[in-house]
Amino acid sequence: MSSSKELGELFANNRRWAASLEAREPGFFSKLLAQQTPQYLWIGCSDSRVPANDLVGLLPGELFVHRNVANLVVHTDLNALSVIQYAVDVLNVLHVIVVGHSQCGGVRAALAGQRAGLVDNWLRHVQDVRDMHAGLLACIPDGPKRLDALVELNVLEQARNVCFTTIVKDAWARGQSVTVHGWVYGLHDGHLQDLRITASCLDDVLPAYSRGLAALTARYLESDL
Ligand code: CO
Repeated sequence: MSSSKELGELFANNRRWAASLEAREPGFFSKLLAQQTPQYLWIGCSDSRVPANDLVGLLPGELFVHRNVANLVVHTDLNALSVIQYAVDVLNVLHVIVVGHSQCGGVRAALAGQRAGLVDNWLRHVQDVRDMHAGLLACIPDGPKRLDALVELNVLEQARNVCFTTIVKDAWARGQSVTVHGWVYGLHDGHLQDLRITASCLDDVLPAYSRGLAALTARYLESDL
């Protein structure tokens, strides 16, 4: 039996996983060695309950992934920008998808103004979203519903941020095909939902944002008012 310090169980799992992939498709790994050609960039939350590849049934090589706390796309975050640049300019992904998830702990802390440490500064960006939509949020009962509304509003804002990066604007300006999406994942049922902010060119962005916001507003207000 391996020492828990060396995490032997994880290595054993890894070998089983690699063997099963190779058994299903002989040469799987050597083929991937040559190149990766993912069509999708996933920008999601770091939450352990939201495993990007698994929940859309994609194999290694099929999904380029960036995750951070509360799936933020901050205009000066060189980490996220570098991922987006590489994905769009080098890998030529066709879709960039911002994916939030229900009951996000980062969004919950931001909504309530809970202090957790350094991360509070990162979550300040979610508080900006909260403050921008204070009127709508105030109409939704405090609790899980208001939290999920802020999760979705945050997806709309971050998807819009993706559209307004120099990277995506330049790609669109040169006629490259890339579509930006905003989705939310339900922890309670494992289902993804499209938030209808879908933009394939600069002129799409604001109408798509308005459409997404109108749909969200209707969804949250019609059931409670
Ligand atoms: Co989260």
